[in-house]
Amino acid sequence: MGMKPSEIVIELDNVEKYFGQQKVLDGVSLQVRAGTTTVIVGASGQGKSVILKHMLGLMRPDAGRVVVFGQDLAQSNTNQLRDIRSHFGVLFQNVALFDSMSVYDNVALPLRERTHKNEADIRVNVEEKLALMGLEDHGEKFPAQLSGGMQKRVGLARALVLNPKVVFFDEPTTGLDVSKSNEIYRLFFETQVRLNYTAVIVSHDVPKIFKLSDSVALMAEGKLQGCMSPEAFQLSDNPLIRSFVLETMGPIYSSETEEALLYETL
Ligand SMILES: Nc1ncnc2c1ncn2[C@@H]1O[C@H](COP(=O)(O)OP(=O)(O)OP(=O)(O)O)[C@@H](O)[C@H]1O
Ligand SMILES: [Mg+2]
Repeated sequence: MGMKPSEIVIELDNVEKYFGQQKVLDGVSLQVRAGTTTVIVGASGQGKSVILKHMLGLMRPDAGRVVVFGQDLAQSNTNQLRDIRSHFGVLFQNVALFDSMSVYDNVALPLRERTHKNEADIRVNVEEKLALMGLEDHGEKFPAQLSGGMQKRVGLARALVLNPKVVFFDEPTTGLDVSKSNEIYRLFFETQVRLNYTAVIVSHDVPKIFKLSDSVALMAEGKLQGCMSPEAFQLSDNPLIRSFVLETMGPIYSSETEEALLYETL
C-alpha cells in the first residue's frame, strides 16, 4: 500500500491515563492518516484497548489531547461526539452480536438506529455488505447457527454497514484458526480497497497483519514505540521493538520463501 501523504484523521498528543495508582498511558502520541492502516501490537495488559477507547471517545485522558477529524474530543459536546462516531465502524474482540436477532437484523441495526433510511434502502445496503462477506445465503440465520468465522464476518459486515471513514478492530480474529483469520484479513483488505476507509487495528497476528499495514507501533512501557513502516519496524534497533520482533517472528522472517508463502495466504 505504501505511505500516502494524506490528511491526519486521528491524533493522540502526549496522552496520559491513570487507573488509580496505575499509569497505563505515559505520553502516547500517534498520528493516523486518511486511507492508511495502523497496527498496534504489544503484550497483554499494555494499554492497547485503552488507546482505542480514547480514540472512540469512550475514555478521557488525564493529560494530553485526542483529536479526531481536527476536533479535540475533550472540547466536543454530546452532539458533536455523536456526529464524529457516526463515521466510525467498530469490531471488538467479542463480536457481541445480538443472539435473538437474525444475521440480517444484526447488520441492519446501525442503519435503523442511526439513520432515517427506509427499509428498502436498508435492504440494498445490508445485502451489499452480506455479499461482500460471502454471507448472502445466511441472512435469515441466528448467530448461534453460525461458525466462529461466520460470526466474525457478520461483525465485520455490521462494522462497515454505515460506510465508515474510520474502522477500529480490536483483535478481530481472536478464537479463529489460521485459515479463518487469513480469510478475515483478506476480506478486510478487499473491502478497504473498495470502501477506502482508515483503519486502526490491535492485533496479535504478526507478521501476517504487517502485509496490510502502513504503520506499525508497539505499545510498551506506557508508550507507543515505533509508528513506522512494517519493514522499518522489523529492522528497528529500539531494544523493546527488537525483542518483540524476535519473540513473535523469530529470525526466519527475512527468508524469501517465507515471505512468498505469506503473500500467498493473504
Ligand atoms: N476501566 C478500567 N478500570 C481499571 N483498569 C483498567 C480499565 N481498563 C483497563 N484497565 C487496566 O489498564 C491496563 C491496560 O488494559 P488494556 O485492556 O488496554 O490492555 P491490552 O493491551 O488491550 O491487553 P490485551 O492484549 O490482553 O487485550 C490493564 O492493566 C487493565 O487492567
Ligand atoms: Mg485489549
